[in-house]
Amino acid sequence: MSDTFFCKRKKVSDTFFCKKKGVIRAMDINLKGKRALITGASSGLGESIAKKFGAAGAKIGLNFHSHPDAAEKIASEIKTLGADVITIQADVSDSGQVKNMVDTFVRKWGGVDILVNNAGIDGKHSLIYESDISEWEKVIKINLFGPFYCAREVLQHMINQKKGVILNMTSVHEIIPWSGYSGYAAAKAGLSMLTKTMAQELGSSGIRVLSLAPGAIQTDINKSVWDNPSTLKDLLNKISLGRMGQPDEIADVATFLVSDLASYITGSTIFADGAMIDYSNFTHGG
Ligand code: BGC
Repeated sequence: MSDTFFCKRKKVSDTFFCKKKGVIRAMDINLKGKRALITGASSGLGESIAKKFGAAGAKIGLNFHSHPDAAEKIASEIKTLGADVITIQADVSDSGQVKNMVDTFVRKWGGVDILVNNAGIDGKHSLIYESDISEWEKVIKINLFGPFYCAREVLQHMINQKKGVILNMTSVHEIIPWSGYSGYAAAKAGLSMLTKTMAQELGSSGIRVLSLAPGAIQTDINKSVWDNPSTLKDLLNKISLGRMGQPDEIADVATFLVSDLASYITGSTIFADGAMIDYSNFTHGG
């Protein structure tokens, strides 16, 4: 019997571990040669993900909506890591702008291997009966229509390539209801189902689709909560690890999920939440 046991599928990268019987290789995540479009990358999780992908060797399309200076600053940091990067302005809730964004990206890099649907907003706190219809629609349009428009556009290319990865950034609120943020929770639950449905549609085309669901990660989006000792205490009671996550901890998981090391994961949500979904405020009592 041969001492090699190649998997039936093609070799997908230099680091693919299924090589020689008895040879155990350390995992080495690299995204060399991959072309990655990351939406909402001028701050927060998107910024960390773009930098981490750049450090792993990907070519980056850094989408931003309203902060060109921040986007350019991040792009120049990514360039110092030795990665190629372009910044592209677009509002993901506008299908025409999304088409232009993807066209620009593909003109530059010749195709697209990875899409991270990261752009999103929590929206203003408001109970449903007092909510403003246009504010609610805006949350759904950015957090749910946006990923749909972006996925639909990149798929025009991924389908022909017969490969690609779409990573949808959801949230613990794809399963935890969130009073005052009904639009956000509904959009994230919808996005989770969009992930599953797309994975089913695209499996035979070699395209993986995943959700990454962060918990409370310390970024500007929730600054008003972690900046205030009493709301921070309340928040930490909801997290089994007893601390907020850092953007880097999410970017590490994202890098793994879009890499070939995660080649058999599709259609799932991966939670990175310090066990927020584990009812940690039930640690005592009940
Ligand atoms: C929201 C954060 C919030 C966290 C936990 C995230 O999806 O964007 O603002 O702190 O969920 O509730």
